[in-house]
Amino acid sequence: MALSIEQFTCRSDNFGVLVHDPASGLTAAIDAPEEAPIRARLDKGWRLDAIFTTHHHGDHVEANAGLKADFGCTVTGPAAEADRIPGIDRRVTGGDTFAFGGLDVRVIDTPGHTLGHVCYWLPGEAVAFTADTLFAMGCGRIFEGTPEMMYASLEKLRALPDETIVYCGHEYTETNARFALTVDPDNADLRYRYEAVKRLAAAGRPTLPTTIGLEKKTNPYFRVGDPAIRKHLAMEQAAPVEVFAEIRRRKDAFR
Ligand SMILES: [Fe+2]
Repeated sequence: MALSIEQFTCRSDNFGVLVHDPASGLTAAIDAPEEAPIRARLDKGWRLDAIFTTHHHGDHVEANAGLKADFGCTVTGPAAEADRIPGIDRRVTGGDTFAFGGLDVRVIDTPGHTLGHVCYWLPGEAVAFTADTLFAMGCGRIFEGTPEMMYASLEKLRALPDETIVYCGHEYTETNARFALTVDPDNADLRYRYEAVKRLAAAGRPTLPTTIGLEKKTNPYFRVGDPAIRKHLAMEQAAPVEVFAEIRRRKDAFR
């Protein structure tokens, strides 16, 4: 039986995600933004065995302690932020792999949003959990790292297979698409996707997950080599990381 993945809203715009492996019966939460909605989703009979933490921000770890106290689940998180991850049992870093039931989980270092941010990739299932590094048509704000770090992190994610299904930490898609059109206005795929996203948002439906392939076509941070974007920014000769930094800088000021 295939992996079951449940995505649901937590707080205001965070996503909670539960991953259930029917073969082993194990269930993991990707981050723990809020206890009540996670508990509600576990009511279907799943028992929480693990939390995979991506970074130390409060809206990703708030429910770690409460869920661990109740379920005795193990908390896996980035070694570099271990002192700020409540309940951490296992410290991981990029390149680490571990088994969760029958699943092969790989850790990708993605510093930038925070210095220790990690993503979790399940290559056998073609699924990645990118939290606050990669969003649909966007990327995380660079709070702790540098544009160079964030760019290198996004390049690692862009190198995953196109069919990889991507779950993100927040529902920021509509704003991201509106911004993306300001730097990539003639991209037909992007315009089409923006219309689709607006319809989903108006219906109160989630716009995620996405895929690496779709992001390559529509995410400006994945498209810093695109001639049209470079021309639009008057940065035809700039290094890729400079184009990235300029797009991120503009987004920081975008309302
Ligand atoms: Fe964050």
